[in-house]
Amino acid sequence: MKFVPMHELLQQASASGYAVPSFCVWNAETLQNVLRVATDMRAPVIVMNGPGELSLLNPAEFAGMAIEMAKRFDIPAALHLDHGDSVQLVDDCVAAGYTSVMLDYSARPFAENADALRHVVELAHPRGITVEGEIGHVGKVDNITTEGTGDSTLTTTEDAVAYQAHTGVDALAISIGNAHGQYTKLPQLDFARLEAIHHAVPNVPLVLHGGSGTPDEDLQRAILLGIAKVNVATDLVSAMRNSLLEQWQRGENLWVPAALTLSIDAMVPVVERWIRRTGAAGRA
Ligand code: 13P
Repeated sequence: MKFVPMHELLQQASASGYAVPSFCVWNAETLQNVLRVATDMRAPVIVMNGPGELSLLNPAEFAGMAIEMAKRFDIPAALHLDHGDSVQLVDDCVAAGYTSVMLDYSARPFAENADALRHVVELAHPRGITVEGEIGHVGKVDNITTEGTGDSTLTTTEDAVAYQAHTGVDALAISIGNAHGQYTKLPQLDFARLEAIHHAVPNVPLVLHGGSGTPDEDLQRAILLGIAKVNVATDLVSAMRNSLLEQWQRGENLWVPAALTLSIDAMVPVVERWIRRTGAAGRA
């Protein structure tokens, strides 16, 4: 298959009442793993990476490899830039063949964020590329994740409406009590806020960053109220890291190819679980 624009997956999900899981991947093995599990489960899927991962392979290298690998799978999938931190990085991903880009200026003043995203939309839409923006700011709850800064700012309905009207983004990441990283106490999602935002911008698929650790009940309710994309990174990284730690504690020598094989295998149940939980299984 060829990667498709992300908005095609999200429109379908919004219309049918499920969400598309968006998994953070950082090399050929993690990418292959996600695409293989999604294929086995007949699920649409988004694979994404951003500045934290693109230090391993730059956008051209990563996309070249990903586009080649995708030919072996036949599910609808999008290749997405997550938390792009500069227009240059967005340009590089567009040139490399990403089918969706996020420029995350959510920690900046409204006007700067909105103007920059409008520029990205003008650049991306003529090329058929999807654009995600974030209004309000999704912070983080640990010092391990590289995404988000310390504090969150909740999204207001007024800002969501004004931002959408100004930018024309295809997907809107919102802050409703969610956060990146490993929750140490249960998140308190503000469902009334989510409902009001969805009501105010009904045609824009909403994105929940910080998926890892979201209780199932909350996830189902959020999807019912307009969340069409759920981002997952920490759960995958934890599965891999725990496997490596266990191997080390068992006294294994961490011969890297063998250790990596086991740790990548440990990600499989995580991907399966998220595909089931979002309702994406069987939709492809
Ligand atoms: P988690 O690491 O909390 O799953 O968040 C991932 C994310 O939102 C990536 O953008």
